[in-house]
Amino acid sequence: ASAANKAPASGGARRVLLFPLPFQGHINPMLQLAAVLHARGLRVTVLHSAFNAPDPTRRPVGYRFVTVGASVPIADLVPTGSHGNFAEALLRINERLETPFEDSLRELLLEEEGAPPCLVVDSNLRGMQVVAHRLGVPTLVLRTGAAACLLAYMAFPALCDKGVLPPQDHLQLNMQLDGLHPLRQQDMVFSATIPHETMSTLIERIVESSMCSSGVIINTFSDLEEAELQKIIDGMGVPVYAIGPLHKISLGAQSSLLAQDRTCLDWLDKQEVGSVLFVSFGSLASMDQEELLETAWGLANSRMPFLWVIRPDSVQGSGKIALPDGFEEEARGRGMVVSWAPQQEVLGHQAVGGFWTHNGWNSTLESISEGVPMICRPHFGDQMINAKYVQEVWKIGFVLEGKMDRDNIQRSVKKLFCHKEGGEMRRRANNLKDKATQCIKKGGSSQTGIDLLVNCIMALPS
Ligand code: UDX
Repeated sequence: ASAANKAPASGGARRVLLFPLPFQGHINPMLQLAAVLHARGLRVTVLHSAFNAPDPTRRPVGYRFVTVGASVPIADLVPTGSHGNFAEALLRINERLETPFEDSLRELLLEEEGAPPCLVVDSNLRGMQVVAHRLGVPTLVLRTGAAACLLAYMAFPALCDKGVLPPQDHLQLNMQLDGLHPLRQQDMVFSATIPHETMSTLIERIVESSMCSSGVIINTFSDLEEAELQKIIDGMGVPVYAIGPLHKISLGAQSSLLAQDRTCLDWLDKQEVGSVLFVSFGSLASMDQEELLETAWGLANSRMPFLWVIRPDSVQGSGKIALPDGFEEEARGRGMVVSWAPQQEVLGHQAVGGFWTHNGWNSTLESISEGVPMICRPHFGDQMINAKYVQEVWKIGFVLEGKMDRDNIQRSVKKLFCHKEGGEMRRRANNLKDKATQCIKKGGSSQTGIDLLVNCIMALPS
């Protein structure tokens, strides 16, 4: 174990140790939470793996960073493309990090001179929670997904016991799940390439980590998921804190693993208000060469301005991204392609009028916070649940169903920007944005949630 810089010898406020799962969609909300707790006077130490470590040049002043298991390999566990067994990787990451985490924690406990620390851990890191409890450190769990997702996970074992999941044939895929409206069986298949048993183990551990904690922190807000939060509170038996959207509360928390191309903001400045479609599929999802080609022509043929993020690893099985011949000429002046964008700023830019997303929860919440309606193309995991809520519950977007072909894409873009339905989605999205803005104001529900969370942390048993 290696401790980065030495802890300042100060007593007083409790130290909070935070340990994110080492992926962009989990690091962002954990570091945002760190900023929020630090701003409330708590002392902060971020524990992180060497894999996907936060950039040392952009660390916030005033907190400590500690590498856990500097020589522990993780990259070899992570499947390439979105179709591998990601659940297996998460279970193995736990196994590999447990011992080095125990070493780091013991070292930190020896150094600590103030009140004993507590640990806020990603709900996928149940192994670290077990270690912490063994060493007498109380834990809280951060859920980086929607409340709807946690609720679905809580229901998952009983649905399996009843034989409802996994679906036995494709006719069942469309069946509604009792008590989980609007979810259908297909929304809880999670991935075609993860065996049911592995997914069950992962979900069991996520729910267990929440139930064994001193509190569950969820990056959502009560006006968005009131019913789901209430059901979680009723079923969980531990306090639940809805304190999102975290990125709007912790302004300035810098946690991007890739360099963001900020020139796209200048380009957006030159576009008309509400005219641009932003296209981005998060940090993990990928497509094949054929889908890349169809996406390119779908966007070009829509004749709408677009800003498209193509990560270097976005296209399966290719070292190099090859956009089709003629695409650049066709889209010149109307489209921009970048390898990574300052997404939150892009979504908040007045030129952006729509978001074609994979519905990772951060992307979904970032879009909601800015009142941007969505075209949804979920890939795996919780993304199907998020997309279903966007379409059926909040009615601020729709799922691009069927094959990814250029006509389908072109029609969807037109629907969002030019049809009445798209306009109604935009109006509802703006209403939700207003609610998100209210909840982070002084006295708003998420600010109250943070007050309660800080009180809980200060009152945890020593
Ligand atoms: C993963 C899962 O896929 C997701 O379903 C789960 O809810 C969290 O973990 P990811 O696929 O990366 O995350 O998607 P998402 O949750 O949307 O997180 C991506 C983050 O990267 C967002 O905060 C987004 O702002 C950021 N991003 C994305 C950029 O900063 N620039 C980009 O160009 C694209």
